[in-house]
Amino acid sequence: MSSQPLYPAYLPVRPEGFTPTQDLPPFKVEEPGLRADPELPEIKVKGKLKNITPRIGTEIRDLQLSRLSKDGLDQVALLAAQRGVLVFRDQDFADIGTQRQKEIATHFGPLHRHPTMGYPEGTGPEFQVVYADEKVGTLRDLLGPRNTYDLWHIDQTFTPNTPGTTFFWNLETPASGGGDTAFTSLPWAYRALSPTFREGLHNLKLLHTSASIGEVARIGTERALKEAVKSEHPLVIQHPVTGEPALFVNPTMARQVVGYKPGESEMLLGFLHEHIRSLDFMCRVQWERGTVVVWDQRTAAHSAVPDFNDGERRHMVRIISYGSQPRPVDS
Ligand SMILES: [Fe+2]
Repeated sequence: MSSQPLYPAYLPVRPEGFTPTQDLPPFKVEEPGLRADPELPEIKVKGKLKNITPRIGTEIRDLQLSRLSKDGLDQVALLAAQRGVLVFRDQDFADIGTQRQKEIATHFGPLHRHPTMGYPEGTGPEFQVVYADEKVGTLRDLLGPRNTYDLWHIDQTFTPNTPGTTFFWNLETPASGGGDTAFTSLPWAYRALSPTFREGLHNLKLLHTSASIGEVARIGTERALKEAVKSEHPLVIQHPVTGEPALFVNPTMARQVVGYKPGESEMLLGFLHEHIRSLDFMCRVQWERGTVVVWDQRTAAHSAVPDFNDGERRHMVRIISYGSQPRPVDS
């Protein structure tokens, strides 16, 4: 493959040198979904909505994200909190410029600044470029030999405030297809458990660390551990907008139950990590030119599906806004 990228201005750059992972103190965030009109007028009057499955995911057509008012963006936050993932098709978002993209994402909360991923030249680490081609390789190359490359996770949960509404958009899809993103519903994963089992989880916390599987692969164990930022969060959270309990497990970043011995953590989390992968409450998003995915990281965990051919280009950009601090369920 020798063609040029469709969006060269969005190729990832990163200055040489060490940027420490930010250990942010807790801060107050107003959840935009709580301000939204529950009738979702700006989305429902103009947009055509279709459930991807009854339990997770809504595809939206005939509505430009870039033209929504502030009230409309609040409604996007509410619907993302309820449905987990929104797939906006035929968007002009990729072409409105980085200033405007950042402005729209900032409506949802302060932006996460990634310590190691590349960003488009002239922007900053609020933009995270996910890029593969024949030189850079794919996630498979990064992770090394494995039987399967599922890597279910919630992004960047190691600080007291955790990611909320997140934007991920497509600039170029692999020529032969593939490179979908899969999402799983954390409230439905919780509901699928027996009431007795759920009860046993309510008082547990997990230790979340920035030394995730992906970060260790990207920058090496030594540096990842040296700069590790950690936070404890409830294993079952109450969603700040919907009030629904959700199973807040993060297989790449939270591998220790606070107060448990290692074998006990492995037993419980081994079960829960398998459980959240169920086809019963997951969906898979196929990227098209002009697709923008907006998801709520408290409602949905996700995994890349790195099944596309070696050497093909896949070019995506992500911006993550922070939500409030996860809180336990009222029991
Ligand atoms: Fe991710």
